Amino acid sequence: MNYKIAPSLLAADFGNLQRDIVMLNQSEADFFHIDIMDGHFVPNLSIGFPVLKAIVEHAQKPLDIHLMILNPDLYIERFCKEAQASFLTVHYETCFHLHRTVQSIKKQGVKAGVSLNPHSSVSLLEDILCEVDLVLLMSVNPGFGGQSFIEHTYKKIETLKNMIVRSNAHALIEVDGGIGLNNYKSLLTAGADVLVCGNSIFASDNPFKTISLLKS
Ligand code: DX5
Ligand code: ZN
Repeated sequence: MNYKIAPSLLAADFGNLQRDIVMLNQSEADFFHIDIMDGHFVPNLSIGFPVLKAIVEHAQKPLDIHLMILNPDLYIERFCKEAQASFLTVHYETCFHLHRTVQSIKKQGVKAGVSLNPHSSVSLLEDILCEVDLVLLMSVNPGFGGQSFIEHTYKKIETLKNMIVRSNAHALIEVDGGIGLNNYKSLLTAGADVLVCGNSIFASDNPFKTISLLKS
């Protein structure tokens, strides 16, 4: 099975960020998942451009940037150029003109993702699915790591997978929140392509080994 593991840096030790990034470089992880929060769309603040710059200097794998911010259009160019995103994902709930936003990400040569909150139906993406490279299904309410996985997500993955096959779209299905060794296999069986894991990796006794178990 060809799937990707994207450790979420939100759960890393920020006092030893370089150490954790080097560990990820050497691990079997596929992407760096980076959560950007603005304190408005979600009730939390996380990483800004100065910290991103430091991450870019050390990370040797594609950056999967998850924007949990209002008005994402204001920052698309900076996330694509300065932060060298490989995937840039915006929330459906934050975009008045999602089609335009997706086009402007792709114009920068970056893969465009759209994320849905747990309450947003996958059917909302019906008319844009063929344009996007990735759909990120939130399996917790965005804003914090370490929350419990919402079981209804399985149904959303299956419905979305059917929509993708039916419309001959190429979008990857990424799932984010509450994922670890206890549920990763069921998510892959349901149709997920990319799994974001924060606390299940970084709060484990041996993060390097946990990544390798998640890849096995
Ligand atoms: C939550 C973030 C997630 C979070 C996942 O808003 O989008 O990426 O870091 O963390 P865990 O795996 O601990 O739920
Ligand atoms: Zn995320």
